[in-house]
Order: sequence, then C-alpha cells, then structure tokens
Amino acid sequence: MAPEGTAHGAAIEAKISNLIAGKKAGFALPQPFYTDADVFRRDMDRIVMTHWLCAGHESRVPKAGDFFLYEVAGESVIIARAQDGKLRALLNVCRHRGSHVCREKEGSAKVFLCPYHAWAYNLDGSLRAARHMPPDFNGKDFGLKQIHLRVVEGLIFVSFADKPLRLDEVERTLGAGYGPYGWANAKVAHREMYTIDANWKLAVENYVECYHCAPAHPEYSLLHANEQPRTKIAEMSAKMEAHAGALGIRIENRDHWALDAAPGQEAIYCVRYPMYEGKVTGTGDGKPAAPLMGKFKDYDGGSTFIHVGPASYFLAYPDHGLMYLFIPKTLQRCDMEVVWLVRGDAVEGRDYDKERLIWLWHITSLADKRIIEDNQKGVNSRFYEPGPFAPMEINARRLTDWYLKELS
Ligand code: FES
Ligand SMILES: [Fe+2]
Repeated sequence: MAPEGTAHGAAIEAKISNLIAGKKAGFALPQPFYTDADVFRRDMDRIVMTHWLCAGHESRVPKAGDFFLYEVAGESVIIARAQDGKLRALLNVCRHRGSHVCREKEGSAKVFLCPYHAWAYNLDGSLRAARHMPPDFNGKDFGLKQIHLRVVEGLIFVSFADKPLRLDEVERTLGAGYGPYGWANAKVAHREMYTIDANWKLAVENYVECYHCAPAHPEYSLLHANEQPRTKIAEMSAKMEAHAGALGIRIENRDHWALDAAPGQEAIYCVRYPMYEGKVTGTGDGKPAAPLMGKFKDYDGGSTFIHVGPASYFLAYPDHGLMYLFIPKTLQRCDMEVVWLVRGDAVEGRDYDKERLIWLWHITSLADKRIIEDNQKGVNSRFYEPGPFAPMEINARRLTDWYLKELS
C-alpha cells in the first residue's frame, strides 16, 4: 500500500489521474484498468469499500445463530442472526491479535470461538469471554467490529463505508420493482459460485450488455427479445404491461444511474423486458418452472431487471428470481455468485424441479465465465487497444463512465 503523502503515493495518484484523463469517450477502458495492481487497490477503496454490496438473501439465515461468510476484496464478514432476531455484519477479525474468528463458510452457532486463543464472541459480536486476562481488562471494549447492514425486499446489503450512501432510491425502486414478486418472502432454491479468472469489471461490463447475447447465449436469446428492432420491442413491452396491468401490477422503469442523478444515493436502475410469445419464464422451453410468486396470479410475459451499485444485479420472473453478485477477489480473479429464488413455501421435487429451474442461467453463466476469461486474455495482450462500444452496449458504456467518475 502506498502511504498517502509520500512520493510513491503521489506517483500513483498521477498515474491514475492520467489514465482517467486519457480514456477515450465511447470506447472500452484501456489495459491498465484491468491489469494494474494500483488501479485494483483504488477500485477496492473507492468502489467496493464505499458502495452497498448485496451479500445474499435473508432466507439463508432464518433463525437466531444462523450465519454465513461474505468474503470480498480480502475482507471476511460474518452475516449472523443474533438472539434478538436482528441481522448483523461482523468483521471476522479477532479483537485479540487479529485471527479470523469464524472458519466455517455457513452454519448455525451459539457463539463464535476464535481458534487461536479462544476468545468467545456472542452472536451480536460482543465479547463473551477471554481467558486469563487481567482484572482491569474491559471486555466491553473488544467486541467484533461491525459494518452497516440493511435488508431490502429480503436482500441483505452491507456497506464498509464509515458513512454509507443513502438507500432511499434503492428502497423505493426495489419495493416497487420486487415487492410484487414477493422477494421478501422468497427462499433460496440454489446457489452456485462461478470463479472467473478476470478483473471484476470485465465480469460486470459483460453482465450489463446484451450485445453478446445472440452469439454467446442462443438459449437465452430464444426467450428474451433483445435483438428486435426498437419498434417491435416497444410493441411487445406494451403487451407485457397490459398483461401486468390486468394482474394489478404496475412496475415502472427507473434510472438512478445517470451521473448527476440523486447525489449521495446509491445507484439503482430498473428495466422491464418482454419475452417472446408463449415464453413466460427463464427455462429451457420458456414454460413455467415454479409456483407464481408474490402478487402474480398469472405470467405477464416479461421480466424485471434491477441493478444496485457496482456489483449487485437481479432479475425477476413471475415464478422465480435470480441474484447475480459479483465479488472482486484479486486483480484478475472474481467470483460470480448466482442465487435462484423461489416462493418461500415452494418445496423442491413437489413444486419445482431444481435441474429444470437452474438450467438456463447455469449454462448462461458458464458461457459468460468463458467469454469473460477470453476477454481478459486478450486485454492482457501487448496488442490490446480499446475499441468503440456498440449502441447495444449502452449500459456497459454508462457503467464505465460511472466507474471513472467514482474513481476520480
Ligand atoms: S487472536 Fe483470537 S483469541 Fe487470540
Ligand atoms: Fe452473458
């Protein structure tokens, strides 16, 4: 780490400022944004440690004692439900000499016992016991540190920032967008972690554009109308909204991603997308996969995409949902955690067939892993030169513009 105020720190500042200034508008990011360790550190400080990140769905931790680890950018956070019923995000760093306290990825605990010298912590992070400490030791001063945690429509968001960004727009948009789908009462049907050998931004840029969908995702493209002319999409959207309206559901597109929109608020974006005639959900054949969720009494022929901050992306069909959580690990490695949600009372085998439920987005994710890793390989070449974004990549272009603003 380059100490601020040193000559080395100033050189890094200058390097990053020059990189940002030299970025050509409308073009992909230059190589160092994906290959330079100083840029990666800056990404972690200015983006990952500053913005709200979705760590998972609340249904993973229904009872007191339930916990799971959320591990991002070298940090480990214990998401735990304490005896008071509240969720907390505890930093997994012992207040004695710093060991990770919790080694299990998930489970149920009565207490978190540090494996080094056995300091014991309650589920709310307070120190319960520390062996052989002197009489003047005050355990109250040595609880596990906590970061901010908020649950919105069942989604657990955490922020490492001292003073986190406001979530009003996120709450409004997720409430309006996913309230009708009943996500607050959903349950996790399946989770899969895809480790991607690429910089996290290549993974996120890939997620937000569908220019690659026709060549890379033929299965997805059979269902979702992404390559149709605008007029055709408008016509299909009108039909979808008429169906939704007849079901008493009205979800508006919202855009709080624009560079000057809602300062101090976390970025959020919501867009509805129509599916082809006769295709109602994200399965191999577009036929239903699971019991309808929330207020849906029938399919509306569409899907609702919501993006929150830099790394949390969601997709809702009337009968199931998808969470796409991007987790930066190192300069050229990230995890993409995909979570499939179904109605809270749905029973596997009886109400849904898990293989059928996950098929489409599993093969789509495997294809994405491949193309993102190929992208990183090419970007690492001494011959790489950023090319222009296509009009269909408008969201990737917006994302990189947003990113550069956050970085500077
Ligand atoms: S480091 Fe945890 S008890 Fe010593
Ligand atoms: Fe993709």
